[in-house]
Amino acid sequence: MKDRPVGLGIMASGRGSNAEALLAACAEGRLNAKGVLVLSNNPEAGVHDVAARFGVPSRTIRRDEFESGEEFAATLIRAFHDAGTDLICLAGYMRKVPSALIRAFPDAILNIHPALLPRHGGKGMYGPRVHEAVIASGDRETGVSIHYVDAEYDRGPIMIQRGGIEVRSGDTPESLAARVLELEHTLYAQAVARWIEQHFT
Ligand code: GRF
Repeated sequence: MKDRPVGLGIMASGRGSNAEALLAACAEGRLNAKGVLVLSNNPEAGVHDVAARFGVPSRTIRRDEFESGEEFAATLIRAFHDAGTDLICLAGYMRKVPSALIRAFPDAILNIHPALLPRHGGKGMYGPRVHEAVIASGDRETGVSIHYVDAEYDRGPIMIQRGGIEVRSGDTPESLAARVLELEHTLYAQAVARWIEQHFT
């Protein structure tokens, strides 16, 4: 074990309940990690308030502030490096992650997806659409997948996957999402613990 905590960076676009679960696990000492930076593409995202509550700096960096994708990616990379980031967790980040960022953090970017990949993933599969697709498919069970991020949406190697959430006959995308979200919150911290064991000893 290295003699310092893992620097945890988070990218999120929305309310930030997964970010909150991760930052709480750090703050409570359940993970040998420290939240170092939250980046968003959305200045209004609830995740900024979450970060502030945990005393973690947060910033908005948007692609449209830059002339080129290269400059955008370089700014993200610099922000994470300057903050001392070892691991980046995507937690509801609604934009494609620039490939230069993926190259700058090899095997060190994780994403959480609220279904059992490779089912119900890929471009456009986010938010309620995922749960709509699960219900429409007739699948009897859903769950959560946490995977390494590579250049394609939802396609990197799976790190942890957990099923066991029954799809009930009266389920709406919202009711299903709520049960899946509970599992997301526990599983993401487990994935980070596993990453630390595998990559930071
Ligand atoms: C979660 O369902 C996550 O799996 C998906 O986006 C949602 C983000 O929710 N990628 P929150 O902002 O963490 O509450």
